[in-house]
Amino acid sequence: MIVLESVNLAYTAGETSVSVLNNASLDVAQGESVAIVGPSGSGKTSLLLVLTGLETPDSGSVVFDGAELHTLSNDQRADIRRQSIGIVFQGFHLIQSLSACENVALPLDIAGVSGARDKAAELLHRVGLGHRLDHYPNAMSGGERQRVAIARALIHQPALIVADEPTGNLDNETGAAVADLLFELNNENNATLLLVTHDPSLAARCQRQIQLHQGGLQPFVPVVN
Ligand SMILES: Nc1ncnc2c1ncn2[C@@H]1O[C@H](COP(=O)(O)OP(=O)(O)O)[C@@H](O)[C@H]1O
Ligand SMILES: [Mg+2]
Repeated sequence: MIVLESVNLAYTAGETSVSVLNNASLDVAQGESVAIVGPSGSGKTSLLLVLTGLETPDSGSVVFDGAELHTLSNDQRADIRRQSIGIVFQGFHLIQSLSACENVALPLDIAGVSGARDKAAELLHRVGLGHRLDHYPNAMSGGERQRVAIARALIHQPALIVADEPTGNLDNETGAAVADLLFELNNENNATLLLVTHDPSLAARCQRQIQLHQGGLQPFVPVVN
């Protein structure tokens, strides 16, 4: 479903250039769950941005469902994300002026799908936030916001779910519930799940673990206590 081949990415600021991805290659099948691990600053978020066409690599190719992302226009890449990809960003990226229900309904509203609010409410019930439909993000806890962000990423039943440290800011219990939810939806829709995590026990729940090391991707064996 996703094939990365020899991807290179460097960020350049003024005179200095920082190499982040260095000949990174990866092949992920539909329905697979893959954990991406690596220390802070190793390029995990950058990798997710490249995979989802939000960042263009300097060289190498990224193929999603047979489409070479970087031969497409911005609009075509946005269409692919709208239809097929759900992204849970590290900082949630909820819209502060919209309620929980409106945030979750937004992707369907933009796509002109009818019944968006009802579908959003249903999914929020499912993630245990049926009593928070009209709450605004600043009136919710971190765990609640994270679940809203997940609901928003999944409302269109994407074929690919990408989550950047989805349990990073949560206590163990809430984190486990959020992880359960992601795996449940991954199973139900045979969606592909790519999880960036620092948590070895969460990584171990994925079918495969990949480590970012010096900009490249290599298999990783998680050690769970
Ligand atoms: N937009 C950017 N411009 C310049 N440098 C960046 C940018 N984004 C990330 N970096 C740098 O690239 C490296 C990898 O960052 P990132 O992908 O966020 O790593 P991780 O998610 O593993 O913590 C870091 O050294 C970071 O400072
Ligand atoms: Mg990151």
